[in-house]
This record gives sequence, C-alpha cells and structure tokens, in this order.
Amino acid sequence: MQRPIYLDYNATTPTDPQVLEAMLPWFTTQFGNAASRTHLYGWEAAEAVSLARQQIAQLLGASEKGIIFTSGATEANNLALKSVCEAIPSPKHIITVATEHKAVLDVCTYLQSQGVAVSVLQPDAQGLISIEQLEAARRPDTCLVSVMFANNETGVLMPIEAIGTWCKQHQVIFHSDATQAVGKIPMDVQALHIDLLSLSGHKLYAPKGIGALYVNPRLKLKLEAQLHGGGHERGLRSGTLNVPGIVGLGKACAIAQSLLHEESIRLTGLRNRLEASLLALPHTLLNGAKDKRLPNVCNIAFGKIDGEMLLDSLYGVAVSSGSACTSASVLPSHVLKAMGLPDDLAYSSIRFSLGRFTTSDDIERAIDHVTATVFSFTQ
Ligand SMILES: Cc1ncc(COP(=O)(O)O)c(C=O)c1O
Repeated sequence: MQRPIYLDYNATTPTDPQVLEAMLPWFTTQFGNAASRTHLYGWEAAEAVSLARQQIAQLLGASEKGIIFTSGATEANNLALKSVCEAIPSPKHIITVATEHKAVLDVCTYLQSQGVAVSVLQPDAQGLISIEQLEAARRPDTCLVSVMFANNETGVLMPIEAIGTWCKQHQVIFHSDATQAVGKIPMDVQALHIDLLSLSGHKLYAPKGIGALYVNPRLKLKLEAQLHGGGHERGLRSGTLNVPGIVGLGKACAIAQSLLHEESIRLTGLRNRLEASLLALPHTLLNGAKDKRLPNVCNIAFGKIDGEMLLDSLYGVAVSSGSACTSASVLPSHVLKAMGLPDDLAYSSIRFSLGRFTTSDDIERAIDHVTATVFSFTQ
C-alpha cells in the first residue's frame, strides 16, 4: 500500500539523514557523559555539546552562553514562564495571546492558580495582535509578555520586532515560543529584543525529545530552576545531558542555516501552488494573514464540508485539522476560534504543512486527491 503524502511537517519532521549520521557515534563509541571531567569520554561529549551550542546560537543570533538544553518546547515554555514568575515577587502580571500553543496557555492557567494575574489578548481575524493591545493591557506589575513567533496552525507571524521593542522600552521580559519559526525564517534574538525563546528539535529535522530555551545572558533576573539536581545548564536544568539529541539539534540548526534562503523560496513556491489550487475550489477560504506567514503552511477552511469527514476521506494525504499536539480533542481549534471563525468553518479547516522532503510531484498528487475528494462531497 502506498503511504500517504506527508503534509504535516508542523506536527513533526523526519530526522534529516545527515542529522542521524552525526548523532550515531554518540550512542555507541562516544557514549560519554558530558559532565565527566576526568577522562576522554567525558571531554569528547562536552566538546560535542559545546559545538552544538554554537550551532544553535548562530542560527538565533544569540550568545552560546544563553542556550539551555531541554526535552523540547513544552519544557522550554514551562521553564521560561515559571522560572520568571517564581523569581519575581508578587504582585505580578503577564500578557499572552489566545492563539498560543497549549504549552504556553496551560502554563499561564497554572500560574494564574498560583496568584499571577494573566491577560490573554484576542487576535484580529488575521491572527495578529497590535502594540495598542499590549499598551492597553499593561499594568505597573506587568513583568512578562509571551507571544509566539509563528503560529503552528496558520503559520501567521506575529510582529515580534515591535513587541520586543515595546518590552524593552517598558522593561518587561519578552518570551517567544519560536518552535515553528526556528530554521524556517531568519531570526536574531538580539535585534528583536527577545529575552527567552523556546525551540524544539523535532520541528526542524532533529529527533523528538530534544529542545532548548534561549535565555538572554544579560537578563538581570536570577531565574528559578524547575528541575533540581546536579546543577547542569547553569543551574537552570539539572539532568545528564542528552548528548546524541543535542548533537542532532546542533547539526539540524547548522543545516537549517545553510538552507534557509533556498528552502524558504522552494517551499513558498510549492505552498503557493497548492494554496492557489485549493482556494479555487468552491466555498474555500484561507485562514490567517496571507502576507505574514511562514513559507511552508496554509490553513484552509473547506466551507460547507465537515472537517472530520473530509479528513477521513483524505486518506492519500497526511494533514491535520487544528493542532496535532491536541488532536485527542474534537473541539474546534482554539486558534481559529480566537480569530473569530464560527464553529462550522473551524471544523472544516485543514492545515497543510510542507517541508524539506516535499516534492512538486507530491504537491500535484495532493491537489488532485483533495480536489477529487472535495468534489465527491459536493456532487
Ligand atoms: C508552537 C508550539 N509550541 C510548542 C510545541 C510543543 O513542542 P514539543 O513537542 O517539543 O514539546 C509545539 C508542538 O506542536 C508547537 O507547535
């Protein structure tokens, strides 16, 4: 049986063969613990970790001292938000957006239960927020703003530079969940005034189970660790380092950096071809700001067709409705709902996300398959 065409790169990416190759020795011959200071095995591992830190820092325009390894973006977001809130005396107030991933929203709900005031901004119909909204939400005790770089469902890019500048001006710490943006678009944490940034290996061709939090080394606050133990990662994240995963993440960042321009042009072309064909179908519409998006995503509402039924019939393409991370729930996507979509349109929406191994043949076959399926519902 032919496997479906994979158009769900925002859910997860395959590990790039070059990444896998770079990782392999760190499972077998070079298996040392990066914290072993007394022998070659440990020194080699520590050196590999240091190279990975440089590779990641370079992709972010960051200092390598700021890279803290985690198990992924969920942990990085938890660490970012909780470590700031625990380090700042009450009263305190944080600002976030209704379209964030649950790995931010649910942490905010938890923090609220611990006495932190939380403002959740509602985006406009394009999925964007404005500086005026931040200004209106600001209070004397606002200490943290958490706004994602790119939305996982729509690919919409938030006005990160303007938000960073606003945060700097008001001495508010700025965290951005950049899980979907890292490796897809250029970024420079210093120029953007980002203090904390979350990323995840499995969204950029490294394996699952590895990620990082960038922490601006010039941040004046002493963050509170969430895992206590051996004091690894500048005391912020104890636990023996996942050396193969870290090596893989470093290599994935180096590859992403070298391909960034070319890959973004290629994927924009393929995505636009797919999008134009799907938007030519009856009752379809694009979700999210057309011109402020990642190059690899389109999220389309199929009007009068039930999304779950459509997904069931689209066995030839692997795509997702709403966020794959919350696919256990059958509620309409909280992202699309926050953008003002009615339930029926939110339910009928499908995310197509392309990646490094998507070919133009894949796109042509996907167009044929989706078109035929949609017509089978409307006949
Ligand atoms: C924007 C965003 N943040 C966080 C996460 C969670 O990442 P991880 O799987 O590394 O915990 C995801 C995963 O889909 C995501 O898209």
